[in-house]
Amino acid sequence: MLDLTSDLLAHQIDAATGTLSGADASERHLSQLRGCFADQAAFEAALAQGDPLVYSVASVERDSGDGALRFGLGTLYPGRVGQEYYLTKGHYHSWRAAAEVYIGISGAGGLLLETEDGQDGYVPLAAGGIVYVPGHTAHRTVNTGTEPFVYLGVYPAEAGHDYGAIADNNFRQVVVAGPQGPAVLPRAQHLAGLAN
Ligand code: F6R
Ligand code: MN
Repeated sequence: MLDLTSDLLAHQIDAATGTLSGADASERHLSQLRGCFADQAAFEAALAQGDPLVYSVASVERDSGDGALRFGLGTLYPGRVGQEYYLTKGHYHSWRAAAEVYIGISGAGGLLLETEDGQDGYVPLAAGGIVYVPGHTAHRTVNTGTEPFVYLGVYPAEAGHDYGAIADNNFRQVVVAGPQGPAVLPRAQHLAGLAN
């Protein structure tokens, strides 16, 4: 049982800086996203220019056990590798039944979703919006805007993160910059376009 003091239980989001008080921050740079983007040549070309910070997550994982929740503030920077918008690695929860709620704080983007039985989805998310990610659903965030996309994810403490299942096959859909703005299309279709 946690002490019922505001020092322990109250947190503050600073959307301008993408910080969450009382949280532990982790960072992912471009080099850590090898294999996530469709356009390998564009990925290597971008990396040759440097290794930018693509996103950070500030997590509060103080509580654990049955019924406990955890939450993390993600800050996904704007940018692209080829035509594909900056993205998070993406994962299933190790405990597949664990759902998650995403709350948009600032900026604009969306969530690529898919299930192991073949369903695919994309749900836009911006400041003030909420997206419910059902259990058994892999989720990856993309930033389709020009400013940092900041969002809060709230999930069961027991959820865990399974990155391997996605790393093996990658998401079946990509979000790319098209002539009329962001477009969601099958990875195979995007790859075929790159080959021509
Ligand atoms: C937690 C969650 C988010 C992500 C964050 C970074 O379950 O979904 O807090 O952890 O968007 O993405 P990943 O973890 O895929 O690198
Ligand atoms: Mn998650």
